[in-house]
Amino acid sequence: TGAITIDPGYKNSGSCKSEITFLDGEEGILRYRGYSIEELADKADFLEVSFLLIFGELPNKTQLEKFETDIRKYTLVNEEMKTILEGFPKTAHPMGVLSALTSALTAFNPKPVNVDNENELYDAVCKTMGKFLVIATWTYRRRMGLPLNYYDNTKGYVENFMRLMFEIPTEPYKMDKRIVDALDKLFILHADHEQNCSTSTVRIVGSSHAGLFASISAGVSALWGPLHGGANQAVLEMLQEIHDNGGDVEKFVLKAKDKEDPFRLMGFGHRVYKNFDPRATIIKKAADDVLDALGVDDPLLEIAKKLEKVALEDEYFKSRNLYPNVDFYSGIIYRAMGIPVEMFTVLFAIGRLPGWIAQWKEMRSNKEPIGRPRQVYMGHTLRPFKEVKDR
Ligand code: CMC
Repeated sequence: TGAITIDPGYKNSGSCKSEITFLDGEEGILRYRGYSIEELADKADFLEVSFLLIFGELPNKTQLEKFETDIRKYTLVNEEMKTILEGFPKTAHPMGVLSALTSALTAFNPKPVNVDNENELYDAVCKTMGKFLVIATWTYRRRMGLPLNYYDNTKGYVENFMRLMFEIPTEPYKMDKRIVDALDKLFILHADHEQNCSTSTVRIVGSSHAGLFASISAGVSALWGPLHGGANQAVLEMLQEIHDNGGDVEKFVLKAKDKEDPFRLMGFGHRVYKNFDPRATIIKKAADDVLDALGVDDPLLEIAKKLEKVALEDEYFKSRNLYPNVDFYSGIIYRAMGIPVEMFTVLFAIGRLPGWIAQWKEMRSNKEPIGRPRQVYMGHTLRPFKEVKDR
């Protein structure tokens, strides 16, 4: 073995070759399978984009309808899964519950997917897309102490998300098309982002040939952290705190710059984007549009804009190329839609699911070796063992 290069956080290491997502951090470019994120967010819907990411091409009408129908077939979740759900305290964080439930799906679907069999692979994809959406909404229903809803086969995937979340027995849920469309767009913007922390986790867990549900469950856990997907919840909590402290954004910018203070400006900075995050640009506009359309006047949006302005003019942020990322404005939209803050990262997970599946599928199809980084050992050299009585 030759000398080992250490690269903490893999800042300069590529882990694989991929044909799924192209990202240029200098230019602020993001493309799925060659299509620009701007065009996809504007013209496509989430299931089309999911199909594109996972299978490599945009579906034609027949393929898309079939995909939607086949996902629907798998939206019934085993009744015994409910016992597991009920074992959680209502106060449990939805991301923890989601990760556990996703892992538990393995118990009810124990047969490993034969990745060389196209039909089996296709079924596994549809099953994951179907069941994950349903259990994601269960995490909220449990928290609220509400009965679980069943998927409505007459409605679309994103519409079903809203119904499964919010319909209560006493009144039918009134679907707001503007909310469904905005959510669809947000899911598209989150759908893949090459080798980010959760996706790398999914690939590395899957590289041991652990099952798809086990790999996705690990991805959910990785996404949960505040430096990754958990940032969307952290941003909203930060904005609320600024608001409750009289809206003094300058004070929080100072705090973020203070190296003695662990506080970071949440929703700011990115490992790859060093110019701007193209998703943030689309989301900022969507935040204005959605709040306008819904007639919501949220003081936190004003605080976010002010904070962005102050930070962007600040030498600390300028010199480090720190810009708002995808998580900076998304929470404000979710909030306007009536989605509680603890569910924000679950929404990110639903959006990221097709990316995780696509990356897992690519990794297995390429027959990649098990992920197993090396290290440089810095500990003790050989030393003699001492009996406990002598220590
Ligand atoms: N506030 C204050 N300082 C920051 C921030 C921030 N949000 N982000 C980076 N810095 C500083 C950091 O302290 C370092 O300064 P110095 O060079 O003086 O030591 C410099 O900028 C470079 O940062 P880094 O930590 O080396 O960069 P990284 O690539 O390891 O981390 C990041 C990227 C996204 C984890 C980080 O920018 C961060 O913690 N941001 C806040 C959390 C956040 O918004 N996460 C969401 C990321 S986007 C979507 C997603 O993954 O979910």
